Amino acid sequence: MSTIALYGATGTIGGRILDEALRRGHQVTAVVRDPAKLTTSHPALTVTTGDVLDPASVAAVAEGTDVVVSAVGGGDGPGHLATIKPAAESLVAGLRTLGAAAPRLIAVGGAGSLRTPDGKQVWDAEGLPEFLLQIMHAHGDALDLYRSVSDVRWTNLSPAATIAPGERTGTYRTATDDLITDAAGESRISAEDYAVAVVDEIERPRHIGERFTVGY
Ligand SMILES: NC(=O)c1ccc[n+]([C@@H]2O[C@H](COP(=O)([O-])OP(=O)(O)OC[C@H]3O[C@@H](n4cnc5c(N)ncnc54)[C@H](OP(=O)(O)O)[C@@H]3O)[C@@H](O)[C@H]2O)c1
Repeated sequence: MSTIALYGATGTIGGRILDEALRRGHQVTAVVRDPAKLTTSHPALTVTTGDVLDPASVAAVAEGTDVVVSAVGGGDGPGHLATIKPAAESLVAGLRTLGAAAPRLIAVGGAGSLRTPDGKQVWDAEGLPEFLLQIMHAHGDALDLYRSVSDVRWTNLSPAATIAPGERTGTYRTATDDLITDAAGESRISAEDYAVAVVDEIERPRHIGERFTVGY
C-alpha cells in the first residue's frame, strides 16, 4: 500500500486515477481547491485543500507520503497555459525543500512532444488549432523542466494522442518517446487504462527520471 497525494482528483483524468488507486488499496489524499467539488467518499480517502501553484503548500501535503501525482490542467480555457508549466515548477520547488525525504512525483504530461514515424513530433502536424498547439508546447516546456531536474524523483506520463473516458481493459502498451498507435493507426487510451498505468508505475517504479507514454 502506498500513500498518495493527488492533485486533479476533481478532473477527468485525476478522477480516474483516484478511483484506480482506491480500488487497489492505496491511501489517497486528494489535494483540491474546492472540497465541495469532490463527490467521492471512501475510507482510504482524505480530502485536503491546496494549490499546486504554491510550493509551500506542495511541500506541506507531500511530506510523509510515498508519491505525489499531479493531473492538473485548466479545463478548456486559457487556465491551462497558466497551470501546466507553473505547476511543474511549483511541484519541483516544493518537493525539493523536503530533500532526501521527498516523495516521488508522477505528473500527467501531453502527447504533443512524442515522436511520430516520419521523424517529426505530434505537434508538427499541419492544421492543429492554435490553442491545442499552445497546450502541447506548455507540456513540452514542463517536460524540458523535469528533464533538467536530478534531485527530485520525477516521472512524466504522456497519454496517447486521444484520451477520453471509456473502458477499463487493464491492458496497454508503453514506449518512451514514440507515439503509440494501434493497428488502425490511431493513438488512443481510455482515461481508465491511463489510470491503471499510473497506479502500475506507483506499485512498480520503472520510469523514475524519465517520460513514458501509454496507448493501445
Ligand atoms: N492527449 C493528451 O496529451 C492529453 C489529453 C487530455 C489531457 N491531457 C492533460 O492531462 C491533464 C489533465 O487533464 P484533464 O482533462 O483531466 O483536466 P481537467 O478535467 O480540466 O481537470 C484539471 C484538474 O486540475 C485541477 N487544478 C487546476 N489548477 C489547480 C491548482 N492550481 N491547484 C490544484 N488543482 C488544480 C482542477 O481542479 P478544480 O476542480 O479545482 O478546477 C481539476 O481537478 C492536463 O494537463 C491536460 O493537458 C493531455
